[in-house]
Amino acid sequence: MLDKGRISTLEWDGEFLYIIDQTKLPVELVIEKQTSIEQGFDSIKQLKVRGAPAIGVAAAYLLLIGIRSYIDKPKKEFLDILSKKADYLDSSRPTAVNLGYALKRMLSCSSKSSSETSAEIYKELEQEAIKIHKEDEFICKSIGEYGSTLLKDDMGVITHCNAGSLAVSGLGTALAPIYIAHDNGIKVRVFADETRPLLQGARLTAFELFNAGVDVTLICDNMAAFVMSKGLVDIAIVGCDRVAANGDTANKIGTMGLAILCKHFSIPLYIACPSTTFDFNTKTGEDIIIEEREASEVINFGERQTAPSDIKVRNPAFDVTPNDLIEGFITEHGIIHSPFDQNLKNIFYKK
Ligand code: MRU
Repeated sequence: MLDKGRISTLEWDGEFLYIIDQTKLPVELVIEKQTSIEQGFDSIKQLKVRGAPAIGVAAAYLLLIGIRSYIDKPKKEFLDILSKKADYLDSSRPTAVNLGYALKRMLSCSSKSSSETSAEIYKELEQEAIKIHKEDEFICKSIGEYGSTLLKDDMGVITHCNAGSLAVSGLGTALAPIYIAHDNGIKVRVFADETRPLLQGARLTAFELFNAGVDVTLICDNMAAFVMSKGLVDIAIVGCDRVAANGDTANKIGTMGLAILCKHFSIPLYIACPSTTFDFNTKTGEDIIIEEREASEVINFGERQTAPSDIKVRNPAFDVTPNDLIEGFITEHGIIHSPFDQNLKNIFYKK
């Protein structure tokens, strides 16, 4: 699953799903076979597989694993079970729209099917899951190509969390422009925020960029203002989990802080994402459900306890960056600028 320094985070062998257990990186590269829907649910919840597009693709395959033993049932019963299993997977993490999107596509494929038997429907569902996976790969390349036009030699790029190969099926979203620029001989300097509390920036972004030979410097989250004040950052590119109709964007906790810093230092902030991350049913960021995670992730730093056991803790996994702090969205259809409520829809309906 490691190819020329680039990573394939998910693989389907026609029966089971294989994931890189991202909680073990960068110390160990452990590939874990997912043999049941329950195991897969826990893998999503524990962030063994993570990143908005990757959990969507994983969920499509996990749904297949979850319904395979019912293919001898009558069609109606099979479809009812399928729908319940999809709801179950959808409840694993609430913020990323890609999870619900992939599951809805699977359900819509089954409901449109004219096949008579559950076994035939299963085969169509498998093709749909593979299609979702392949599309994700292709989309990343397009995002990378559009985004790389923003990058010039010696530019400083800051990113937050991990929106790279580990978070998707292909080159990533926020990291795709960097990979493509790197392949084209454009030398950018990347600053990776470590991304407390779970350190996706340190453990994953720094790991995959370093692995690919990109010039990457790891900083703690609270050092972003410092590097910006020294003139070392020209552009910020991050991924996202859900974009509301007005352009308000949910991404990993700390993104809003980064966006405020960018505004202060006049650094443009771009959100790189597939158009499937736009959620026109959600009017503004106020309506986005933010996942709250266990206090233990904040009380401990890795294996070590770093705060009193019973301390009051907040642990929102995401925050919402208001649309006025965003310069543009890098999508597979091009770069979208404000007014977002108008322009996001235009691109979406052109697809
Ligand atoms: O909690 P995580 O690690 O799943 O959060 C991931 C992010 O916030 C990413 O930036 C986002 O999902 C985009 S991944 C292409």
